[in-house]
Amino acid sequence: MLTLPLLAMLLQLLQACHAAPYSNGFFYHDIMNGNGNGEIYFNGVRLHVETQEKPIFAVRSSNVTLPCHYHYKPQLNTPRRTRVKWSRLPVNGGQETDVLVAIGLRHRSYGEFKGRVHLRQDTPGEVSLVISDLHLNDSGRYRCEVIDGLEDESAVVELELRGVVFPYQPAGGRYQLNFGAAQHACEEQDAALANFEQLFSAWEEGLDWCNAGWLADGTVQYPITQSREPCGGLGLAPGLRSYGLRHRHLHLYDAFCFSSSLRGKVYFLQHPHKLNFTEAVKACKEDRAEIARVGQLYAAWKFLGLDRCDAGWLADGSLRYPIIKPRPNCGPDEPGVRSFGFPAEHHRHGVYCYRAR
Ligand SMILES: *[C@@H]1O[C@H](CO)[C@@H](O)[C@H](O)[C@H]1NC(C)=O
Ligand SMILES: *[C@@H]1O[C@H](CO)[C@@H](O)[C@H](O)[C@H]1NC(C)=O
Ligand SMILES: *[C@@H]1O[C@H](CO)[C@@H](O)[C@H](O)[C@H]1NC(C)=O
Repeated sequence: MLTLPLLAMLLQLLQACHAAPYSNGFFYHDIMNGNGNGEIYFNGVRLHVETQEKPIFAVRSSNVTLPCHYHYKPQLNTPRRTRVKWSRLPVNGGQETDVLVAIGLRHRSYGEFKGRVHLRQDTPGEVSLVISDLHLNDSGRYRCEVIDGLEDESAVVELELRGVVFPYQPAGGRYQLNFGAAQHACEEQDAALANFEQLFSAWEEGLDWCNAGWLADGTVQYPITQSREPCGGLGLAPGLRSYGLRHRHLHLYDAFCFSSSLRGKVYFLQHPHKLNFTEAVKACKEDRAEIARVGQLYAAWKFLGLDRCDAGWLADGSLRYPIIKPRPNCGPDEPGVRSFGFPAEHHRHGVYCYRAR
């Protein structure tokens, strides 16, 4: 058997001679590949990388830590130099994207994560990823990969944002949006297209909507809690009905938007008289706020318990109100955000405003 110092020397030698590009973008020597030599050279020492099995839940704008630790079995006495790479796994077959690469105490972040991520290394072997100021579309599966020149091991952890899903139809009515327009419509409402997991959770919580809508992965689906003839038929069990992937430019549907917690607050504006739409926009401005968007009203209903039995204008020209405790003359028996569509803009109503903190 080789001793470790000798082994290290031998490896450096081999590394120098056999350095070859490895598919993950690092230079990685090939002595381990497929021939089982590794375990002999390495004296049966193995690298283990571990993370949390259950998904991590967080809300928009918060900071979250995705845990990851590595260790060797049996334990090593001399620390080894490792590289750490965090990446995000694609949803529908797309490309894996780099999030962060670290060597020692230096690190580099990429793309949308630039300046928003760092490693937490509080204990030996900890290489957790901290993401700050979470975006609505940061949900997904993340891979923690540790590369020590000898071995390359990884573990995958899932991040899910807590939030609320709402179906969205623009003023033009049903089935007006291609994929890009649906994405845009959700963003305009301070939301993002929902993903499958988010729509599924919403369905579990009772969302029933008999119009098909785009999801973030380019599929079109709708959630049914009570089977009925016009919504897939009586013979079909309740669940998500899927049309599968649709043409992103040519096909038109509604959208399922996803919103999460708010930095500010939504409130029903106290005003001496009712307002048409133009006056409503102006009244919020005069109150050092802006007219609330649909996603903000849903978030306030879900996260801040906003309950108000007064219909109010929203930024897209729709009229809605949020109910937590159902009561007579305030809509159906279930809690929810009630919608009255898009009235003519000269009609007079209340207004919901949003003030950022
Ligand atoms: C999140 O982390 C950033 C630094 O990365 C810090 O400035 C900010 O205060 C943190 N926010 C919260 C809510 O902890
Ligand atoms: C995620 O949202 C940010 C804005 O919050 C946007 O800049 C980015 O393009 C989005 N990324 C994806 C993959 O949709
Ligand atoms: C709302 O009322 C104002 C007068 O207070 C009027 O100037 C404006 O044109 C009206 N807007 C609409 C959309 O009817």
